[in-house]
Amino acid sequence: MLSRTLVNALLCATVLARPAVPRQAPNLSVQISVAEGILNSTTDGHIQVLFAPAGTDPLDDTDVTSSPDYFFGQNVFGLATGKTVIIAGGDGESTDFGVWGWPNVSIDEVEPGDYTVQAFLNPYEKVTRGDGSTVSLRFPCGDGAPGIAGYGTPITGAVNFTITGESQQLDLVFNNITAPEDFTGSEIGGCQQGNYEDTDFQKYIKIRSTILSDWWKRDVYVGANVLIPYGYDANDTATRYPVVYDQGHWPGSDGALSYSSNTNISYAWNNGTIPATDSTPARDTPKLIIVTFRHETPWYDDSYAVNTANLGPWGDAINNELIPHIDNLFNTIAEPYARIQQGGSTGGWESIASLIYRPDLFGATFTSYPDSLDFHRHQDIPLYDNANAYLRENGSSIVSIRELDENGTEVVLATVAQENHWELTYGTRSRSFQQWDIWNAVFGAQGYNGYPLEPWDKVTGEIYHGAVELWKPFDLSNWVTSNWDNELNLGEVLEGRIFVYVGLADNYFLNEGVQQFQARVEEKGGVGWANFTYIEGAEHGGVYNLLDTWVYLELLQQWFEDHAPDGKTPLSPSVTTSAAVGNKWKDVIAHGGREAAIARQAPPKIDGRKVSVGRWDPGVKLEAQWYVKGKKYGKPFAVEQGCDVEFVGKEKKGSLQLAVTGRKRGYVTETRKSNVGSC
Ligand SMILES: *[C@@H]1O[C@H](CO)[C@@H](O)[C@H](O)[C@H]1NC(C)=O
Ligand SMILES: *[C@@H]1O[C@H](CO)[C@@H](O)[C@H](O)[C@H]1NC(C)=O
Ligand SMILES: *[C@@H]1O[C@H](CO)[C@@H](O)[C@H](O)[C@H]1NC(C)=O
Ligand SMILES: *[C@@H]1O[C@H](CO)[C@@H](O)[C@H](O)[C@H]1NC(C)=O
Ligand SMILES: *[C@@H]1O[C@H](CO)[C@@H](O)[C@H](O)[C@H]1NC(C)=O
Ligand SMILES: *[C@@H]1O[C@H](CO)[C@@H](O)[C@H](O)[C@H]1NC(C)=O
Ligand SMILES: *[C@@H]1O[C@H](CO)[C@@H](O)[C@H](O)[C@H]1NC(C)=O
Ligand SMILES: *[C@@H]1O[C@H](CO)[C@@H](O)[C@H](O)[C@H]1NC(C)=O
Ligand SMILES: *[C@@H]1O[C@H](CO)[C@@H](O)[C@H](O)[C@H]1NC(C)=O
Ligand SMILES: *[C@@H]1O[C@H](CO)[C@@H](O)[C@H](O)[C@H]1NC(C)=O
Ligand SMILES: *[C@@H]1O[C@H](CO)[C@@H](O)[C@H](O)[C@H]1NC(C)=O
Repeated sequence: MLSRTLVNALLCATVLARPAVPRQAPNLSVQISVAEGILNSTTDGHIQVLFAPAGTDPLDDTDVTSSPDYFFGQNVFGLATGKTVIIAGGDGESTDFGVWGWPNVSIDEVEPGDYTVQAFLNPYEKVTRGDGSTVSLRFPCGDGAPGIAGYGTPITGAVNFTITGESQQLDLVFNNITAPEDFTGSEIGGCQQGNYEDTDFQKYIKIRSTILSDWWKRDVYVGANVLIPYGYDANDTATRYPVVYDQGHWPGSDGALSYSSNTNISYAWNNGTIPATDSTPARDTPKLIIVTFRHETPWYDDSYAVNTANLGPWGDAINNELIPHIDNLFNTIAEPYARIQQGGSTGGWESIASLIYRPDLFGATFTSYPDSLDFHRHQDIPLYDNANAYLRENGSSIVSIRELDENGTEVVLATVAQENHWELTYGTRSRSFQQWDIWNAVFGAQGYNGYPLEPWDKVTGEIYHGAVELWKPFDLSNWVTSNWDNELNLGEVLEGRIFVYVGLADNYFLNEGVQQFQARVEEKGGVGWANFTYIEGAEHGGVYNLLDTWVYLELLQQWFEDHAPDGKTPLSPSVTTSAAVGNKWKDVIAHGGREAAIARQAPPKIDGRKVSVGRWDPGVKLEAQWYVKGKKYGKPFAVEQGCDVEFVGKEKKGSLQLAVTGRKRGYVTETRKSNVGSC
């Protein structure tokens, strides 16, 4: 008969980390029904239930630092009028089908007390994209993709409940829909990217992007807010202006100057005169056009302005469709020397990435406190080297948000684990519309499940280095240094065109990625290859180098003048060559799209005595089972990816097969059988 069986020849142990099992009872549940007229059809989506202190609007504070609010999220499938959903329990394992809560995983952990409770539904639409990958997502429409309660969200009332600590069921009804944007329906692109009325200086444009619409197989629009300078005359096409592309979050109707700390800047811009101060004379406002983009996506309030396998060809839509359109409509100087990128934080990364990938299009970047420029430090996570994104090797938590108190002492506001766990209440599979998830979507490849191939397990923090490896084309430090002196020649092309500012007390540790980037580019290009400014004690935010807004805009104007063909140091056509272009859509999708995801897979294979367990996406946990003469042989056993196994059973002269079952959060559990060998 069947004796003892098999060993995993390499003895790779599989350890599954499990969150603590919540305490038993009381059993608190929330039952939500759907009133007539709220859902038009059967809907998949994500429900979020918020518990706020009684009398407070649950939407008042939905931040990770909010307290003592509770957040619970659950995916729903096939919701329809007349159906109910029960939100109960939460074991930390079945995040795709069960409850996931923050700060406590299980809804049973809500402390007794008085709460105002409200539920929200993010309805998902199922789409198949240009490469055949299918995803269910919420498409925002003119509201900049908030994680919760965007336009047209089915909501329940905000109802007071006393949580008793005994078993209890709360009843809520989806009986209302958050007001949609006020639009007639005849606007170009409907509600997409919003609709705003031009003012004298602020103009709003929107176009249908062919390349994005082809990819998403639905109409996709991109917009821009164009701020024209004092004295601008549309008919005077002989007077032309350089353009500052101001990257950042969803601007809505805001103009590009809204980031400024100078509260009266719009007045001066519209007046044409910068008022005198004690130390500076009155003078004309800069003669620049400033453009911000409206590019809300089904993953975040903006697209990160590059081509990515999960979001689509947004870089091309902005750079090859929208910017030429702006150049047609406005009296711009459509030359690289007359185009500067600028922005902070998300916009900081977007601005420098835009220059690095498109040195043929833009002249320079003035980048402030950018998202990580080098994934040796993704915020404060040593992403390439650590085993876990939440914990250091000594077991201490990796911090995500810090601030300095009045005495300059660092105070921790949130850890990476807290933020990721909080995000998971907003959506699974990187669909929270929040920061860590959008990084997963932008930097990551598509997983075999069609969703972003996450760099770590969102619950446990275990880093999947195979997934991180696929981020490399978006590690800007890696991109620049590995294309330094090949046909892209970035060492020469980008020299002197990058300006980066960051505060050394950046609240999100973004100074560390800048320092890593500086060290790596200077190792190749020497000090001065790019211009870095660090300000001691400065936190996240503010104008580049913490300059006065006018002084900053004049600095940009000076750069334009200096680099014009008749300037002191004209920008050479040799550095604005199309040979240096990166982030090409065809490369991005070949590296990270559906075909690449399929190519990463392989079934188990018997080859003599060595049996491979096949190839699976990073993070898939495997369990194997031998079959001898078509029958199960021995018990299933855990195996690790990359480890071969060996059959050491006593059976002789029979057919041998290995079946491997792969499980991963967010993935359909799948069993793959090897070819049939013999033993
Ligand atoms: C808790 O209550 C919900 C709703 O009544 C029910 O579906 C669930 O089975 C209960 N769980 C336990 C552990 O009793
Ligand atoms: C249902 O359809 C109406 C009319 O088309 C639309 O205004 C409303 O937003 C839809 N509701 C949902 C939840 O999609
Ligand atoms: C909910 O509770 C708060 C605080 O006790 C109270 O001010 C408010 O009126 C209550 N709302 C309703 C609808 O009862
Ligand atoms: C819920 O989470 C908070 C914050 O982490 C913790 O202090 C509390 O002990 C947890 N409650 C339970 C019942 O586990
Ligand atoms: C529904 O929501 C609208 C705002 O979107 C609000 O004005 C209205 O009072 C709500 N209706 C109910 C029945 O709560
Ligand atoms: C520009 O020219 C058009 C057509 O000649 C004219 O209608 C318009 O008033 C002019 N605009 C300005 C600002 O002079
Ligand atoms: C803005 O500046 C102008 C001119 O200096 C002044 O008249 C106006 O009151 C200021 N507005 C605000 C809001 O400070
Ligand atoms: C600009 O503001 C100054 C001071 O308020 C005022 O005297 C001047 O007329 C304004 N100019 C324009 C063009 O509005
Ligand atoms: C763990 O390591 C970090 C980084 O090296 C250090 O800052 C921290 O103090 C250490 N914590 C403990 C508890 O040793
Ligand atoms: C800052 O230092 C002062 C003087 O030592 C002390 O009284 C105060 O409590 C400190 N503030 C904080 C937030 O620790
Ligand atoms: C770096 O750039 C800033 C802003 O343009 C400038 O003030 C500074 O002199 C530059 N530093 C060096 C070393 O060139």
